Amino acid sequence: MYKIAVLPGDGIGHEIVPEAAKVLELIGKLYGHEFAFTQGLIGGAAIDEVGAPLPEETVNLCLASDAILLGAVGGPKWDILPVHLRPEGAALLGLRKALGLYANLRPAILYKALANASTLKPEIIEGIDLLMVRELTGGLYFGRKYREDTPDQGQKAVDTLVYTEAEVERIVRLAFQLAQLRRKQVCSVDKANVLESSRLWREVATRVAKDFPDVELTHMYVDNCAMQLVRWPKQFDVVVTENMFGDILSDQASMLSGSIGMLPSASIGGKVALYEPSHGSAPDIAGQKKANPIATILSAAMMLRYSFQLSKEAQVIEDAVVRVLDGGYRTGDIMEEGKTLVNTEEMGDLIRKEIETLAKQ
Ligand code: IPM
Ligand code: MG
Repeated sequence: MYKIAVLPGDGIGHEIVPEAAKVLELIGKLYGHEFAFTQGLIGGAAIDEVGAPLPEETVNLCLASDAILLGAVGGPKWDILPVHLRPEGAALLGLRKALGLYANLRPAILYKALANASTLKPEIIEGIDLLMVRELTGGLYFGRKYREDTPDQGQKAVDTLVYTEAEVERIVRLAFQLAQLRRKQVCSVDKANVLESSRLWREVATRVAKDFPDVELTHMYVDNCAMQLVRWPKQFDVVVTENMFGDILSDQASMLSGSIGMLPSASIGGKVALYEPSHGSAPDIAGQKKANPIATILSAAMMLRYSFQLSKEAQVIEDAVVRVLDGGYRTGDIMEEGKTLVNTEEMGDLIRKEIETLAKQ
């Protein structure tokens, strides 16, 4: 039996997470696995219910589970709260830190059927298959932050960017291991021409590379990488980078897949891994059944593959997604002329129908 903590969070989280949970349930039924789901509170929903964005109960639930399925957190309602209560920092960053999830994997691939859905030209994105490996528990997002009054310039705000060799080494090493299973190229992204933390990052990456003679290492400045991702994304296999650069570049890379609604993620490195779409809670469309559940459903597939070693079942989910897209069904974010617009639940149903068909073959 696999114990799964289910944390829908806020906004569209309540619409997309159930679709992914139903996919897992169906996989369990078809392939003889038992998934036990336990719901937990996180983010604004937890603030409203129990007054804290990351209740201890939720952390304990996660620690007692085999994997975590998360929707998204945050929304305008909680944006005015003091920083220690803000869902993004206190809940999401807090949970990643509490579970030691130092590595965030965001695979961007192009689904052929979506070649025209991206804002980029089809010939630029055709055949892309890259994996963003983002450091997730260090750097600017976790360094000391504070404000101070200055005598004559108003307030001063400080964020601190800290990395230790050990932190860099473990994420870079993981990127090399993942590259060994792929096209054996690692591009380490930094800003070593300006930042000391990036110079350390580059030194460590160069040193770690010696243990992986079969993998090619290149270094790229983050500004150049932002440009190369839209100029010639096919050059990338595994991209490894620090927390903030990875946050920004992975949103950008999502457009290579047509929409951020297509980009799943896995956060690993601790005892229990966490699976969530790369997008946020999308308050603008929340409650309207417009959200694309595919990123969350693909995150569930990543769960089967990485946490439970059920790669056949993961593949079935991924294949079902391809078939539904090939069939011309689209949520609003990937809609094009001549295609059939469906809502969140209908998209989930279509994918589950294809899973049933594939399981019978
Ligand atoms: C992400 C999100 C989060 C992050 C936010 C919501 C704190 O943007 O998962 O990429 O910055 O990590
Ligand atoms: Mg982000």
